[in-house]
Amino acid sequence: MEPVVLVDLFDISKHLIAKKDTVVDFKMVHRLMEHGRHLKKTTVPFGETTLFKDFKNIFNEEKYFTIFTPYRINDEILGLARGAELTKEVFEELYNIKEHLPYTFRHMLLVTALIVKLSIDMKDRDYDPVSAVLIGLTHDLGKSRIPKDVLGKDTPLTKSELAILKTHTLLGYLLLCYYLGGSFNEVLDAARDHHEVLDMTGYPRGVGKIGKYTRLITPIDIFDALISERPYRGSSFTIRQALDFLIDQANTGRLDKEVVYHLISYVRKEHPRPGELLPYEKGTKLSRSDTAYGKIIPDA
Ligand SMILES: [Fe+2]
Ligand SMILES: [Fe+2]
Repeated sequence: MEPVVLVDLFDISKHLIAKKDTVVDFKMVHRLMEHGRHLKKTTVPFGETTLFKDFKNIFNEEKYFTIFTPYRINDEILGLARGAELTKEVFEELYNIKEHLPYTFRHMLLVTALIVKLSIDMKDRDYDPVSAVLIGLTHDLGKSRIPKDVLGKDTPLTKSELAILKTHTLLGYLLLCYYLGGSFNEVLDAARDHHEVLDMTGYPRGVGKIGKYTRLITPIDIFDALISERPYRGSSFTIRQALDFLIDQANTGRLDKEVVYHLISYVRKEHPRPGELLPYEKGTKLSRSDTAYGKIIPDA
């Protein structure tokens, strides 16, 4: 069954681009892409926006101190990110997210720093670190269209609220189609697929065949979501618990094992090579229901 847009979708200038209940089919996506294709694009390097200062500060977060040491690599990440270009409209979206959704903004910057780090380190996979910058910066763009009473809820989400929250992937994808046309395929795919997992139990499509950048971003996304606080989930996981969760997910064929092992190596002070990691000792066993979304309650 084809998905539908659960909210009226507006662009950054408040133009309605898709009405609530519109079916997201090939024709609809094509229409938005045609708009993006013909839009006169003014691109701006990330380093020339005031958001870049926030990005620099992300490396000083206490929880990420070991991960972003040694600093030498951070300079390389910053250098690549400084020159990465996005269009004016997409940066306007990011300014808007910074102002209204600071948790999401911080998360997007953090994911950017980590995905670029992985794309540099996993040389044999031939990643383009500049694409990784763009993917990190835009992957959760759709969160800005999720109603505040769902996104900012400070009590457990209901099943239908979770369903609404999950549409941020599709909304972000549609917005990026509308702004960029088909010229940034990897960016569009990652916005749509960054909650897909290898055993086909992810969303929005539940496909197991996922792009090479999506394989990088999914474990990072979960990792940061678990160790950070959210309005709907008071206490966050420790880094150790988050890694246990990721290892469990990798061992059951949901996440890319190699990416998870890189993350483990970043977290260990001596940064062993991922291939030389000793079997990771199991810590606290987490129940399957303890996900990044916290406990989910039935609809009232
Ligand atoms: Fe997301
Ligand atoms: Fe995310």
